[in-house]
Amino acid sequence: MQVIEAHGARIPAIGLGTWELRGRVCSRIVEQALRLGYRHIDTAQMYDNERDVGEGLRMSGVPRNEVFITTKVWPTHFAPPDLERSVKESVGRLRLNAVDLLLLHWPSTRVPLAETLGALAKVKREGLARHIGVSNFDVALMQEAVALCPLPLVCNQIHYHPYLDQTALRQACAAAGAAVVAYSPIAKGNVRGDAVLSEIGARHNKTAAQVTLRWLVQQGVAAIPRTSRVERLSENFSIFDFELSPVEMSDIFAIGAGHR
Ligand SMILES: NC(=O)c1ccc[n+]([C@@H]2O[C@H](COP(=O)([O-])OP(=O)(O)OC[C@H]3O[C@@H](n4cnc5c(N)ncnc54)[C@H](OP(=O)(O)O)[C@@H]3O)[C@@H](O)[C@H]2O)c1
Repeated sequence: MQVIEAHGARIPAIGLGTWELRGRVCSRIVEQALRLGYRHIDTAQMYDNERDVGEGLRMSGVPRNEVFITTKVWPTHFAPPDLERSVKESVGRLRLNAVDLLLLHWPSTRVPLAETLGALAKVKREGLARHIGVSNFDVALMQEAVALCPLPLVCNQIHYHPYLDQTALRQACAAAGAAVVAYSPIAKGNVRGDAVLSEIGARHNKTAAQVTLRWLVQQGVAAIPRTSRVERLSENFSIFDFELSPVEMSDIFAIGAGHR
């Protein structure tokens, strides 16, 4: 599995998204993903499935230290005492000692950013998270967060797929040494049937979703596609056995050029 490295974090390039997956369906798909070779699972306090993700991890039998688990703090918990309490609860629901990556889920003006980042760094120092980062931060906020945070931010998890131009944000992350993790990477399934992506896929015997995920990973971006279907788990993971040419990469960049 290819990994994206940032400030000492080694983030597996393909992870499983789990938004809207709950209960047994969630545990089963996490278990199946890990058995198929996935080593990165994305959850959040807001998804109400941390318990199910932890259950799937244990059901898989894959050793804990081989899997990269991300969770996210919801903005209602951004005051330092709330953040610390809520992260302890998240780790408890997952039945882990620590998560691999802890993110601020969305920016918020309810609590000064410096205070929230201080609390995020504190829970990392206390060992509840191996790495910390942010999500949905724009260029200005990303730069502000990097300047204010006492410890390195290893990633910004952002909305990114071929219909969105994230060039400026990718450059801001690169300048900060932070990885980009793409959420909704297959545009919630909408890349299927896309003429450009399908034509490129036909050349490589791959689907439009696989071409999209390959395009992200080839930029050095990690991607966390979600599926509830086992056959799509394999499809979304089978992207390490082909390469897009420079022309194909730029043809895909052209689809979303200028769309923010
Ligand atoms: N940080 C944030 O604010 C934020 C926001 C949104 C999402 N996320 C994270 O990112 C993850 C992924 O984003 P997402 O769930 O919004 O969207 P996505 O991964 O782009 O798309 C998921 C949808 O695509 C379908 N799908 C999966 N594989 C497919 C394939 N190979 N071909 C065609 N359709 C396919 C799935 O349906 P089936 O289940 O039927 O396969 C599902 O409806 C989330 O689950 C969550 O973990 C984070």
